[in-house]
Amino acid sequence: MRQFNVESEPEMRAISDFAVSMGVTAPVAIRVNPDVDAKTHEKIATGKSENKFGIPIARARAVYAEAAALPGLRVVGVDVHIGSQLTELAPFEAAFRKVRDLTLQLREDGHQIRRLDLGGGLGIPYMRSNDQPPLPTDYGAMIQRVLGDLGCEIEIEPGRLISGNAGMLVAGVVWVKNGEGRDFLILDAAMNDLVRPSMYGAHHDIIPVIEGAPGAPTQPFDIVGPVCETGDTFAKAREMPLLAEGDLVAFRSAGAYGAVMASEYNSRPLVPEVLVMGDHYAVIRERPTFDEMLSRDRLPPWL
Ligand SMILES: Cc1ncc(COP(=O)(O)O)c(C=O)c1O
Repeated sequence: MRQFNVESEPEMRAISDFAVSMGVTAPVAIRVNPDVDAKTHEKIATGKSENKFGIPIARARAVYAEAAALPGLRVVGVDVHIGSQLTELAPFEAAFRKVRDLTLQLREDGHQIRRLDLGGGLGIPYMRSNDQPPLPTDYGAMIQRVLGDLGCEIEIEPGRLISGNAGMLVAGVVWVKNGEGRDFLILDAAMNDLVRPSMYGAHHDIIPVIEGAPGAPTQPFDIVGPVCETGDTFAKAREMPLLAEGDLVAFRSAGAYGAVMASEYNSRPLVPEVLVMGDHYAVIRERPTFDEMLSRDRLPPWL
């Protein structure tokens, strides 16, 4: 067993009790909340004191003392994760410096800290045009500079960085609708398939699957889904080629926090997933049928 990353004192005590009942000792790293502004969207920032995650770093020494005294636990490291889609290294560095100071203090207190789990969070470019998050190599060099002399094993948990640009959501244009002062592209994909735009106001580049000729005319469209919520909007006044009903568009960078956050809201079956490699492709998760979706419901015997 490698380690449990512990989020709170009650969880720590519960893990100890379980371990004792099983006759084992659980290796733990305690997630500390360094109270650092990750400078990312507030809903995916996790390292400020007002966020629910980890234990306040100011209380860490006391919590580590309790962990060391619990019979089912063995302290092996420190864990931190300050948020997702970070586009600057400075917040990471601020957090890692605090983890460094804490590690030295904990060692003085007699704990054997040999592993640092630094979480995930490194952002990816969502807009072809202007955002340039730090390169993984620069992130690695910073970790080496700040923590490299501690003799600790370093763990990282990148998520979006690995999968974000590995996936696209392909959707069809159902209707092109002329509104009052704006035109809408109504797609067959909706907020249930890719919730990031309606949940976080996130930007996804949306491109036609068949690229137009260079210099082909464009116009602004509001790009929306068919669900009865105004939040079911992917983009407003997005400059797009003159698409027609039946054309396909692709949402770029939809491989992270995309399908995994999808729901069957409005009885919309989850989209199928297709794995593509070179000129090979395969459906690796089928679209459920309505019968499959409905067959999960149960009538209670008293109804
Ligand atoms: C503890 C932890 N580690 C890693 C990740 C992955 O983050 P990201 O996809 O931003 O790399 C998350 C995401 O929420 C997380 O909560």
